[in-house]
Amino acid sequence: MASSTHLFLLAATFSAIIGIAAAATAAAPSAAGLNNLTDILTKGGQYNTFIRLLKSTQVGQQIQSQLNNSFNGLTIFAPTDNAFNNLKAGTLNGLSAQDQVNLVLSHVLPRFYSLSTFQTASNPVSTQASGPGGVYTVNVSSTTNQVNVTTGVVETQVNNALDTNFPLAVYSVDKVLLPTELFGPKPPEAAPVAVAPSKPPAKGRPTKGDTAAQSVAEAPADAASHPSSAGRLMAGAAVVGFLGIVSIL
Ligand SMILES: *[C@@H]1O[C@H](CO)[C@@H](O)[C@H](O)[C@H]1NC(C)=O
Ligand SMILES: *[C@@H]1O[C@H](CO)[C@@H](O)[C@H](O)[C@H]1NC(C)=O
Ligand SMILES: *[C@@H]1O[C@H](CO)[C@@H](O)[C@H](O)[C@H]1NC(C)=O
Ligand SMILES: *[C@@H]1O[C@H](CO)[C@@H](O)[C@H](O)[C@H]1NC(C)=O
Repeated sequence: MASSTHLFLLAATFSAIIGIAAAATAAAPSAAGLNNLTDILTKGGQYNTFIRLLKSTQVGQQIQSQLNNSFNGLTIFAPTDNAFNNLKAGTLNGLSAQDQVNLVLSHVLPRFYSLSTFQTASNPVSTQASGPGGVYTVNVSSTTNQVNVTTGVVETQVNNALDTNFPLAVYSVDKVLLPTELFGPKPPEAAPVAVAPSKPPAKGRPTKGDTAAQSVAEAPADAASHPSSAGRLMAGAAVVGFLGIVSIL
């Protein structure tokens, strides 16, 4: 009697252990596939330009590794291919590699928002492009069943959720969220056109051409000196960008 009870207990324990082990191995593969941003966007079927940008700027890689380490999660606004097609021709190619990185990072919020927790967001909301100066923020306005996001230049509704499994939330947007810092009403950055042919400088004050050349020359040093982690990422990605990734469209 006693020994058969023992046998039974032994068998029960053994099968419980096997059950736990089986459950653990079964969970592993699906956890790996979960929260894969590229997979989520690819399944969505209309985010090819955004996928290319995430790759060329290396922000996609950065996002994946942040998801591994983030306690707050991330929220991504994914513009559709139509949204990119609706931009003025040359909009993306007109951006430096650094600004392409900023553009993509400004579509990433450093925490997980479900549609309902957007109501807890306090404006202005930082993005992954935000530095210490409070730049590259967005404002969110929401009711129970609708969320809008604005950069000051572009406002759009946050549409269907492509994924809301913590730590990653991905929402479709019909417009590219053009940041005020890049597309706002301030006078445009000096275009990197031909350096002014050497002319004797006008007496006393610098010419427009001199100022333009100077600000272009200063841009990389400026970016590298940002102490934020986003700044470091941007600087790193800019180096990669300068190595030849320029053409997206
Ligand atoms: C995401 O999935 C793609 C293919 O489906 C794969 O190539 C890539 O390595 C995955 N990324 C991560 C971070 O798991
Ligand atoms: C995320 O963590 C897993 C396991 O810790 C690791 O295998 C994987 O390479 C990590 N992925 C990234 C993109 O860091
Ligand atoms: C979002 O924007 C639409 C039109 O652009 C507007 O009708 C709606 O009231 C806005 N909703 C919120 C929550 O701000
Ligand atoms: C964003 O919200 C802040 C705080 O309410 C406000 O001061 C700012 O003007 C808003 N900006 C835009 C672009 O709506």
